[in-house]
Amino acid sequence: MTKVLACIFDLDGVIVDTAKYHFQAWQRLAHELGFDFTEKQNERLKGVSRARSLEILLEIGNLSLNQEQKEQLAHRKNNWYVELINQMTPDEILPGAKAFLQALKEEDIKIALGSASKNAMTILQHIAMDHFFDAIIDGNKVSKAKPDPEVFLKGAEALQVAPPYCVVFEDAQAGIEAARNGHMHCVGVGSPEHLHAADFVIGSLQEITPTALLQFYAQRN
Ligand code: BG6
Ligand code: MG
Repeated sequence: MTKVLACIFDLDGVIVDTAKYHFQAWQRLAHELGFDFTEKQNERLKGVSRARSLEILLEIGNLSLNQEQKEQLAHRKNNWYVELINQMTPDEILPGAKAFLQALKEEDIKIALGSASKNAMTILQHIAMDHFFDAIIDGNKVSKAKPDPEVFLKGAEALQVAPPYCVVFEDAQAGIEAARNGHMHCVGVGSPEHLHAADFVIGSLQEITPTALLQFYAQRN
């Protein structure tokens, strides 16, 4: 019987839909650089660090730049992105996220955030969910990007729960791989075609309860 003692949540795409803001900012940068960037291409950037996202964007635009230029562009994109997330409100919390986290707390299941974003605290404060988490590990606290498991392992360590007792909730393939690499369970949030490596996939956190989660893992071995 597998016990679940902690849940670790990705932020972008699981708790809030910030992918659209990342897309707007990257597209603005692409247009400035003289090429187009589509929503489909934006899929490749999900769950990936800012620096790696820029590499992918430049690859799409067929541009090769030096380190200083890249840092300037990443900074430029981030300023636009921060302008957008500074407008966020609690209305943008994805369906079921708040209720599920609240229900987990009532079951004494610990909760951590495991996000690649360096802007995670800003977002959590705008949506008034910063107080929900027992531990917050974001892009400022890790040196290796997903699919490296560092962000989730640090989350588990902060909660003092061993990885096999943790369930990660992720909307990106890189994040699911990170959970696997950290020997954790993983629930995919989003559409199944990108997330087949997860234990199971839900459309949103509205589709799960602590009871259903605990039952699923109790039946597995
Ligand atoms: C992840 C997003 O959560 O954070 C990625 O899915 C993003 O798209 C990454 O690139 C880094 O975010 P930020 O806010 O530090 O640029
Ligand atoms: Mg995500």
